[in-house]
Amino acid sequence: MSSVSEEKMTFPPLKNDRLLRAARGEEVDKIPIWIMRQAGRYLPEFRELRSKHDFFTICQTPELAAEITLQPIRRFNLDASIIFSDILVIPQALGMVVEMKPAVGPVLPEPLVIPEDLKKLKTPVDVYKELNYVFEAITLTRHKLEGKVPLIGFSGAPWTLMSYMIEGGGSKTMSKSKHWLYKYPEESKKLLEILTNVIVDYLVGQAKAGAQLLQLFESNAEYLDLDLFKEFALPYINTINEKVKAQLKQMNNDVPMTIFAKGAHYALEELNQTKYDIVGIDWTIEPSLARSIIKNKTLQGNLDPCALYASKEKLRKIGTQMAKEFGKSRYIANLGHGIYPDMDPEHVQVLIDAIHDAL
Ligand code: CP3
Repeated sequence: MSSVSEEKMTFPPLKNDRLLRAARGEEVDKIPIWIMRQAGRYLPEFRELRSKHDFFTICQTPELAAEITLQPIRRFNLDASIIFSDILVIPQALGMVVEMKPAVGPVLPEPLVIPEDLKKLKTPVDVYKELNYVFEAITLTRHKLEGKVPLIGFSGAPWTLMSYMIEGGGSKTMSKSKHWLYKYPEESKKLLEILTNVIVDYLVGQAKAGAQLLQLFESNAEYLDLDLFKEFALPYINTINEKVKAQLKQMNNDVPMTIFAKGAHYALEELNQTKYDIVGIDWTIEPSLARSIIKNKTLQGNLDPCALYASKEKLRKIGTQMAKEFGKSRYIANLGHGIYPDMDPEHVQVLIDAIHDAL
């Protein structure tokens, strides 16, 4: 007897499994490529839809989130899709106001200022209530993808989310959130633990809803050093991997996980020792250096997003060289950070072709 929900959770068979094969260390016919922020403002079809809706309304409306997730997949022969959402839906689930201001970025008008403010957070979070819209968007997108490419789910990592919650938005120095790390280490850890618990439930929920790979964005690792990373980032990154994998294993769901700690060139050894399947790196790390330290894992990255400003001829050369340096085995091509809004979509196609033709 098949129930409605069983039908809803039976997805079309996957036609392009390059990403998942690379994640598991299996042979691939071509190097898989996707692009961080591939659904976004460099696409006219995104800007058109975005002009009609507020950013978080799009995130909260599964049909709109699915539509935007599919936009780059319709346009390009990318090897993966990533659910349209944002890392800052978790602070929202904890009761914080987050606005997305055009030309400014995210703004949290009432940031955490002193440890007392932790009491304002709404815990524990029932992710199946507060973030169910993301799960619905994932399930809907899996159907709409018709098995064309796998769907990636994601979350911000604890330190990165903590820094947005304290800074109230982006920051050049992260001095307010680092102030917490130095002055209130115990309270910082309390906040990081709160976030870790939500992230574990959130990632498990995404995999249950149909996400086929999970990426954790520690985008603000670049503001830490090895000591701070080892104390305030790594233990939580590891706990998330262990708990998510253990819970999914009980459901016979073996979803690969990626850690992308941007700017963590100082912690390659530590990242190698984690149990993540894939380590994302940025363009400050030489492929050969990453390969020499990170063993038995897949690497993802690491083109400087600005390389997309190069002429098509030059970009093709750069893309080919990157593919050759990483090699075809255990490699997922990507940028070393998100694509910028002023990039020419035609150059994205040039990069995809360069990678697919490289080896
Ligand atoms: O990759 C994708 O296409 C999926 C969607 C996605 C978005 N944000 C959509 C978005 C993903 C994976 C993110 C992750 C995210 N969000 C990160 C981690 C990755 C990284 O870039 O380091 C961070 C730090 C955020 C927080 C955030 N959201 C910032 C700093 C900004 C403003 C600056 C910017 O790059 O746009 C956003 C806004 C945002 N998130 C937009 C999109 C498409 C643009 C919003 C708009 O249309 O106004």
